[in-house]
Amino acid sequence: MLLLHRAVVLRLQQACRLKSVPSRICIQACSTNDSFQPQRPSLTFSGDNSSTQGWRVMGTLLGLGAVLAYQDHRCRAAQESTHIYTKEEVSSHTSPETGIWVTLGSEVFDVTEFVDLHPGGPSKLMLAAGGPLEPFWALYAVHNQSHVRELLAQYKIGELNPEDKVAPTVETSDPYADDPVRHPALKVNSQRPFNAEPPPELLTENYITPNPIFFTRNHLPVPNLDPDTYRLHVVGAPGGQSLSLSLDDLHNFPRYEITVTLQCAGNRRSEMTQVKEVKGLEWRTGAISTARWAGARLCDVLAQAGHQLCETEAHVCFEGLDSDPTGTAYGASIPLARAMDPEAEVLLAYEMNGQPLPRDHGFPVRVVVPGVVGARHVKWLGRVSVQPEESYSHWQRRDYKGFSPSVDWDTVDFDSAPSIQELPVQSAITEPRDGETVESGEVTIKGYAWSGGGRAVIRVDVSLDGGLTWQVAKLDGEEQRPRKAWAWRLWQLKAPVPAGQKELNIVCKAVDDGYNVQPDTVAPIWNLRGVLSNAWHRVHVYVSP
Ligand code: MTE
Repeated sequence: MLLLHRAVVLRLQQACRLKSVPSRICIQACSTNDSFQPQRPSLTFSGDNSSTQGWRVMGTLLGLGAVLAYQDHRCRAAQESTHIYTKEEVSSHTSPETGIWVTLGSEVFDVTEFVDLHPGGPSKLMLAAGGPLEPFWALYAVHNQSHVRELLAQYKIGELNPEDKVAPTVETSDPYADDPVRHPALKVNSQRPFNAEPPPELLTENYITPNPIFFTRNHLPVPNLDPDTYRLHVVGAPGGQSLSLSLDDLHNFPRYEITVTLQCAGNRRSEMTQVKEVKGLEWRTGAISTARWAGARLCDVLAQAGHQLCETEAHVCFEGLDSDPTGTAYGASIPLARAMDPEAEVLLAYEMNGQPLPRDHGFPVRVVVPGVVGARHVKWLGRVSVQPEESYSHWQRRDYKGFSPSVDWDTVDFDSAPSIQELPVQSAITEPRDGETVESGEVTIKGYAWSGGGRAVIRVDVSLDGGLTWQVAKLDGEEQRPRKAWAWRLWQLKAPVPAGQKELNIVCKAVDDGYNVQPDTVAPIWNLRGVLSNAWHRVHVYVSP
């Protein structure tokens, strides 16, 4: 009996040591109670030891019963002692001094220590400080995943007063509900915001990418703008006049039409991920497309607002009409020198391949900056201004910059690197696809090549043996104007498959007219945001016997 008593006390002591275990574990302990119920040992006493065995069984049961009852009590106690907070209390916790609290459903979290670790940057999480996360999670759907919920659970401090629970409001309703319908061929990297690329074999099917499969890179919901009431605000120079331009006004400027390739800085990021994890969407080779754009020249519009080139450095800042729940719009800038240079052919485009811009691509007006990274081609353009400094937008200052492979998220200093403008030389194989089986005899290899800053692609080298020997591909597509090679070259190579070869390691690399060439491997150009991924593109295929 003494032993039994000791065992029960010991178990109770063990249970007490669990006192600080979070309620999730408590719930597990409680549920083990159920799993014991079906196992009812029969208390049959037999032979000389029957009475001792009976006591043992009874003792064990009593011990377990006590432990489980204690834990059950603790579970109920924990539930009973859950802190309840009012909405007002939560809303008073919005700074490191007061603590930073947020709610999700009925749960309250103290995320003070997490704010600086937030992958999207502290400022984004601070937008939700003192209130519900739902409106932001609805916008950045990447949050709504089990590992994010698990991470958040660690910061739970209590429950919201049931009377204060957040009723679904307009803000929490789906901000993407009004997004346009998309082409089913697109390979979707994220639905909300919508990001998608055409499959490689469709990408190089046409020199001009058809509008419905042009890659789409959205950071926010697509605004639904009325072309009749649309106005573009252009802030005037001192002494000049500000403009409020309708679509018709823009059409009254001289019309220019040019073929321009747009490439996202994150194109081919998935290859960087294979080296080491990066933050960003897993773009394959399709975050690039080419269209014929028509519109007014930015330099003509700026001139009408009284702007001219100045000695001191200046930037043209663009604001989109897409915005997050706080009203923060997408924004970016380019140097004034580029904007005012008629040779740079920067457009305020209203047409894409002979059609009004599709909604996903900036209807009714977007910026097209030939030779420059896609991020600066601001869609749904609402405002243009000239500033002494670059745009203060997150996407200009805290994203779309390149760093050394040695820089990680603990050491990165975004102010230390220039924003990406012109992109480096790029090429990729679109056919055959990695892992495909090709016919023996002859193989046809297709792809694209492009370089930033108007630098023309002068050659594409292709290897079938991983880079040991090379053949020169045939370049197709429009002839390039000197210093204005804004569009890609498609290329192809028909090559005999060496007899007896069972596999091919196909590689391509492009050379531009500055004799810049792609780096051979990804690791030395790896960077934490996975941008500027332009190493030799490699495809491994099998040869049918
Ligand atoms: N403009 C606005 N207003 N909002 C955006 O999210 N995304 C930028 C740029 N312009 C973006 C924007 C980025 S990062 C790229 S790569 C290009 O648009 C993509 O243009 P596309 O979707 O027409 O291909």
